[in-house]
Amino acid sequence: MKLKQIRLTSYRNIRNMELNFVPGVQVITGENAQGKTNILEAVFLTSTMRAFRTGKENMLIRYGEQSAVIETVFEKSGREQTLRIELFDKESKKVWLDGRRLQKTRDAIGLFQSVLFTPDHLMMIKGAPGERREFLDMTLCAQSPSYTEDLLQYSKALKNRNRLLKFEDEALLATLPVWDELLAKYGSRIAFARQQYIEQLTEVAAKEYAAISSDREKMKIVYVSPLTKENLTKEQYYTAILQALEKNKESDLENQSTGVGVHKDDFLTLLAGKSAKFYASQGQIRSCVLAIKMAEAALLEKNSGHKPVILLDDILSELDPGRQEYILNNTPENQCIVTACEPDKLKEICADCIWIEGGEKKDVSSSGR
Ligand SMILES: Nc1ncnc2c1ncn2[C@@H]1O[C@H](COP(=O)(O)OP(=O)(O)OP(=O)(O)O)[C@@H](O)[C@H]1O
Ligand SMILES: [Mg+2]
Repeated sequence: MKLKQIRLTSYRNIRNMELNFVPGVQVITGENAQGKTNILEAVFLTSTMRAFRTGKENMLIRYGEQSAVIETVFEKSGREQTLRIELFDKESKKVWLDGRRLQKTRDAIGLFQSVLFTPDHLMMIKGAPGERREFLDMTLCAQSPSYTEDLLQYSKALKNRNRLLKFEDEALLATLPVWDELLAKYGSRIAFARQQYIEQLTEVAAKEYAAISSDREKMKIVYVSPLTKENLTKEQYYTAILQALEKNKESDLENQSTGVGVHKDDFLTLLAGKSAKFYASQGQIRSCVLAIKMAEAALLEKNSGHKPVILLDDILSELDPGRQEYILNNTPENQCIVTACEPDKLKEICADCIWIEGGEKKDVSSSGR
């Protein structure tokens, strides 16, 4: 998978921009607040059809404009493809593949594959369960349109059930089982997908971690479901969710909110059997996250047959030279798009540097380089 070109119109602080990318390591540089992350955000949105810094799509449109366009040209299995996404202020986005309109936006998910790594990902260890779930969902959504759909349907059902719990109306409350069924239906698919993914992830990430840390301590990732301590089948999750909702009904009514379900899931990273969140050093946390991200790229390749493009937003400054080298040398055939304020450190590995200033590509001849 290689990203060849991106054309942006009215996207965030970018009025109009066309960038061509080199196939190896592509550095995007510039001072703070110039538009570097905006470019990576647009690239990642092309993979997931979701923005990683905001849930509100109209925030991506340049202030004062009604719509924005992200057009990417990428090469997949030797074939060039063009994906065009148009974002609107008041309607849902529209997507075209090679000039043909896709009726369902979710059909575009994962056509272009990338793995994103930002300093926020360090919260994967230290953060709250909700932040970890968000990372896990982002990853699974980038791979699977059906997971994205299940997640959407689950959150709709959850919202409706929670609304119902606020009414003290017998007739309305009698419809609770309808929402319980839906939560069990979509929740069981979500739980099973998460469990399966973590099982694959822990195996690959443990190997990556051993390589990064010279085999000092064993890393493990475990899926934590409040429903069960064991691995279950999809059908067993269905039953477990239904039973848990039934059992929790009284307290849900009291709290006017649904207290059990996959919206309470978490995953834990363990080092030598101990929770990394509470025991790991800063360096160990960085290594864990790096191992998880490298494993994510490896699994994406294993499951799809394509090497994803690796997007590193400002992450190199967060890693020491050994880890920087690890990430850049361990993925020699993956295209890597890196943003950095100080490109000097990256000069050796990337001759072609894109300079961004005020949402525009800066002419290199005027940049003094
Ligand atoms: N919808 C929008 N319209 C116009 N400008 C926007 C919009 N959304 C964000 N911006 C602006 O885009 C600018 C660049 O943001 P970006 O996050 O890409 O910076 P950056 O180059 O990555 O900086 P840093 O090095 O600090 O990470 C910010 O100043 C922000 O205010
Ligand atoms: Mg940035």
